[in-house]
Amino acid sequence: MAKLAINGGTPLLGENEAKVTPWPPLSAATEAKLIEVYRSRKWSFNSESEQSFENAYSAFHDTKYGILMSNGTVTLECALAALGVGPGDEVIVPALTWPATAMAVRYVGGTIVFADIEKDTLCLDPAAFEAAITPRTKAVIPVHLYGSMADLDAIIAIADKHGIAVLEDCAHMQGGKWKGRGVGSWGKIGSFSFQQSKTLSGGESGICITNDPELADLMYRLKHIGYSRNDAQGGAKTPPPVDLCCHNYRGLALQAVIMEDQIAGVPAYLADCAKFAKATEEACKDIEGVSFQKPGRLATRQGYYARGIGFDGEAWRGIEAKHIAAALKAEGLKCLHTTYGLVRCHMLFNLSEKYWRNAGDPVAERACKSNIVAMHMLMSAPGAAEQVADALHKLAANADELRDYAKSRQ
Ligand SMILES: Cc1ncc(COP(=O)(O)O)c(C=O)c1O
Repeated sequence: MAKLAINGGTPLLGENEAKVTPWPPLSAATEAKLIEVYRSRKWSFNSESEQSFENAYSAFHDTKYGILMSNGTVTLECALAALGVGPGDEVIVPALTWPATAMAVRYVGGTIVFADIEKDTLCLDPAAFEAAITPRTKAVIPVHLYGSMADLDAIIAIADKHGIAVLEDCAHMQGGKWKGRGVGSWGKIGSFSFQQSKTLSGGESGICITNDPELADLMYRLKHIGYSRNDAQGGAKTPPPVDLCCHNYRGLALQAVIMEDQIAGVPAYLADCAKFAKATEEACKDIEGVSFQKPGRLATRQGYYARGIGFDGEAWRGIEAKHIAAALKAEGLKCLHTTYGLVRCHMLFNLSEKYWRNAGDPVAERACKSNIVAMHMLMSAPGAAEQVADALHKLAANADELRDYAKSRQ
């Protein structure tokens, strides 16, 4: 008789028993402020709320300047444009990330070069980055993925040696600190997404942070149809630099209000996620072949958008991550997914090979087949670690049944 719910067995959890934190968080105080901003009619165009959030968030990540934008894709595009990336330039990105990291390179006319990741952190491998450099390499985008951080010390040392700009993609890393200083403050620019599911969320939104006043000015102009920060609407005092292709990528005051109120809660939220990380690891240490994504090598506060869980070795032979994620869902667990998968194989990545090159990604390819991710809203919920551990034990105890299921789906 089937034991696993995916095969018709009894699920571990009933319909609404899975622990998850409802997301994004709600606050009565924020609701009152939103009404105030709504009534003020100051919804956009460098509003006070926008400036206040930019200052608060850039300080939270230990930088001087913050430029609010409409999402964490255009932040990457504007950052690359400000760094002078254009046609003929190559930008190195990790093989495993959300497609936006790569697409941003194309938006400015550059060529994408995919490089491999580290098995344990799932982030860009410094050695693979160095091996992918050519005389045309202009920038590198290390992504601080899920529940880890790219090795900033190693990557910046290599980039400096070759005169390559570092743009940190911190879309997953709100509140993360490397050696005591905020991520995003280590490269020339840090780019964040505040989309609905992120650990700090405005529904949609993004920010670029930097310590460089010139880059800050360029990015402000880029997102604001060429205006500089102190220009009044309709009163540009100076033009943007020639050929700087400026957009309207402005953020909204209403989003800024929602997000500024969330900043103070991020450290405690991340501490809950860290507790989950420790508890699941401890509870699963007897399961053969299960490993957990390692935090950033020099992380002093790890951010968590999610946490990777790897399944390797004889015990899991023939069972890919997609089957494990499906089996866990059937057991009643929510917010457990496969990874994004390789960008070059992603359904939404539609660029022909004249626009990108793969410098080699065997580790990423294997990791995508053998890793699932537990999302932060599951990680932060009391009791979720025990549920995940119980479900993983159940799968491990019935691995043969799961293997047969996987085989039947080939
Ligand atoms: C690593 C990474 N970079 C960039 C983005 C783009 O952010 P947005 O969805 O705000 O455009 C995402 C979105 O999830 C992401 O995961």
